[in-house]
Amino acid sequence: MKKKVVSLLTVSALSLSILAGCSSNSADTAADVASSVEEAAEETTEEVSDAVEETAEEVTDAVAGGDLADKKVGVCIYQFSDNFMTLFRNELESYLVAQGFSADNITIVDGANDQATQTNQIQNFITDGVDVLIINPVNSSSAATITDLVVAADIPLVYINREPDADEEQRWQDNDWNVTYVGCDARQSGTYQGEIIVDLGQDVVDLNGDGKIQYIMIEGDPENVDAQYRTEFSVKALEDAGWTVDCLDDEVGNWDQATAQQLVANALSAHPETEVVFCNNDAMALGALQSIEAAGRTVGTDIYLVGVDALSEALEDVIAGTMTGTVFNDHFSQSHSAADAAINYLTGAGNDHYIGCDYVKVTADNAQEILDSVK
Ligand code: GAL
Ligand code: CA
Repeated sequence: MKKKVVSLLTVSALSLSILAGCSSNSADTAADVASSVEEAAEETTEEVSDAVEETAEEVTDAVAGGDLADKKVGVCIYQFSDNFMTLFRNELESYLVAQGFSADNITIVDGANDQATQTNQIQNFITDGVDVLIINPVNSSSAATITDLVVAADIPLVYINREPDADEEQRWQDNDWNVTYVGCDARQSGTYQGEIIVDLGQDVVDLNGDGKIQYIMIEGDPENVDAQYRTEFSVKALEDAGWTVDCLDDEVGNWDQATAQQLVANALSAHPETEVVFCNNDAMALGALQSIEAAGRTVGTDIYLVGVDALSEALEDVIAGTMTGTVFNDHFSQSHSAADAAINYLTGAGNDHYIGCDYVKVTADNAQEILDSVK
C-alpha cells in the first residue's frame, strides 16, 4: 500500500514542477501559475485518496476473502416454492459470494414445509461440519430444539424470516450464545396495509355506506408470527382511525396463490358486500385478484385489495390500479444483514440477538420507484 502512494506522490510532484516550469518559461501570469498548481495539487490529493481507498479495499477483501473462501455455510429454507423466500435465497446466495464465500461452500436446502425434514437437514449440516448456519425455520415453535442442536455443536446460528418467540430469544441473550434473528417487525407491515386503506378515506372505502368496513382476511401460515401480526395490525389501523369494521370471513391461505384464489372466490360469492380484501402476502393477493376479476369486480372502483412483499407482479398491479397497495418486504436488506451477521460470527465480531429492518408502504405513488429498485 505504501509503495503505491509514494510512487503516485512522486509522479504528482514531478508534474507539479513541470507545470510550474512551463508557466514561467512562457511568461504566464502568476495567477495562471497559481491555478495550475492548485489544480495539480487537487488532482494529486484525489489520486492519493483514491489509491489509499482502493488499496484499503483490496486489503479488506484479501483478508476477508481469504478467510471466508474456505468457510462452509449451511442455509435451510422452509420451502423453495415460496415466492418471497425465493427472492430472499437468491439474493442471499449472490451476496454471500460477493462477500468472498465460495459458491461451492454454500449449501441451500429445501425444507419442503416439513419440520422433520428440516431438522434432518440441520443434523446433516452439523455432521458435515459447516462453520455457520442460516435457518428459516419451518415451525418457529421448533426454534428451541433447533437452537439446542446447533449450539451443542458450537456452530453460530442466524435465524431468518420466521421469528422465534420472545422466550427463545431471551435464552440466546441469557446464555450469551452466538444466535441471532434477522427480520422485519410484522406489526409494521400490518399497520401499513391498514393505513393504505385508511388513507383512501372512509367515504371512499365504505361502498355501501353502512358506516362499517366489510372485509375478508386471507392469512398466511398461522403458526407464523408474520401472519398473526399482519392479520391483527391491518385491522387495528382501521380501528385506530376510528373506523368500524365488519369481518365477513377469515381464512388460511398458507401464503399460497392458488389456495387464496379459491378462498376468495368462495368468500366473494358468499359475501358480495365485501369492500376490502386483506391478504397477508402478495402471492395470495395475486390469487385474490384473479377471483375478484372473475367475479366481475374492479379494484379501486367497487373493492379494495392489499398485500405484502412487493413482488414485481404485484407492483405492476399497483401501478395499473388493479391492486390498491402492498408493503415492500425488503429481501435485499434482510438477506444482506443475515450474511453480514454470519460473517460477524466467523470473524469473532459477534452480533446483537435481534437485527431489524423496515418495511416500506407501497401505493401507486411510489410503486414504480420500488419496482425499479428491485429489478
Ligand atoms: C413472509 C412473506 C411471505 C412468506 C413468509 C414465509 O415474510 O411475506 O410471503 O414468504 O414470509 O415465512
Ligand atoms: Ca360498508
